[in-house]
Amino acid sequence: MSTANTISEKVVTTHVLSAMKQRGEKISMLTAYDYSLAKILDQAGIDVILVGDSASNVMAGNVTTLPITLDQMIYHAASVQRAVNRSLIVVDLPFGTYQGDPIEALHSAVRIMKETGCGAVKMEGGEEIIESVKRIITAGIPVMGHLGLTPQSINKFGTYAVRAQEEAEASKLISDAHKLEEAGCFAIVIEKVPAKLAGKIAKEVKVPIIGIGAGGGVDGQVLVLHDMLGINKDFSPRFLRRYADLFSVITEATRGYIADVKSGDFPNENEQY
Ligand code: KIV
Repeated sequence: MSTANTISEKVVTTHVLSAMKQRGEKISMLTAYDYSLAKILDQAGIDVILVGDSASNVMAGNVTTLPITLDQMIYHAASVQRAVNRSLIVVDLPFGTYQGDPIEALHSAVRIMKETGCGAVKMEGGEEIIESVKRIITAGIPVMGHLGLTPQSINKFGTYAVRAQEEAEASKLISDAHKLEEAGCFAIVIEKVPAKLAGKIAKEVKVPIIGIGAGGGVDGQVLVLHDMLGINKDFSPRFLRRYADLFSVITEATRGYIADVKSGDFPNENEQY
């Protein structure tokens, strides 16, 4: 039996994801930032919904993920949580809310858990944030790591190019993945690194590795929903597969509506009281 206060067996938890890795079942993950689209993803059977700080770009039109605030992330995450019955919801800790010290990181993560009801937080970085990761996990909050291309560090990298192509960066990535696993992360996103490297890490660590632009040798995949739905035509990295052309669908629908309003065809007799 399931009530609002118990976790049903059908609900995706961090333990379910771990079991999926063990039996070789791939994990599906997509971003969502609002109630309506999150409801569709949940009902379609997505395993994990990421309330990504990519909301800064996708929803607010910022050039980077840096400007989005903790309050704004909480607004998006609470909207998603109200829509979801089954998927695990992971929420990005935004830039500047966890890099300072472990106590600040804990306060940020606690606010997300208390004010949104979501299931986990995601944090970008390896060794440099490990004390904050540990402090949050000690408080009973599941943490998903994020390595490789970490967009919150774009001003350090200078470009969104493929990461860890050089030996030194690849070794640090491997070492960071092990450190995050040892710290207790339940999964790690690895973004835009060579497929061979990501596959090697997925074999070495026990926690699920979720890739974006990291090839097929990992334990699951994540994409930004608006990119895979073809809403955003301007972003076409090699790793992106588009499953729809909503840019054209929405453009055609809008043009049709404008034409009908202008011509007086809308509303017709059946569309009024
Ligand atoms: O914010 C985001 O959408 C992400 C994904 C790209 C993994 O972190």
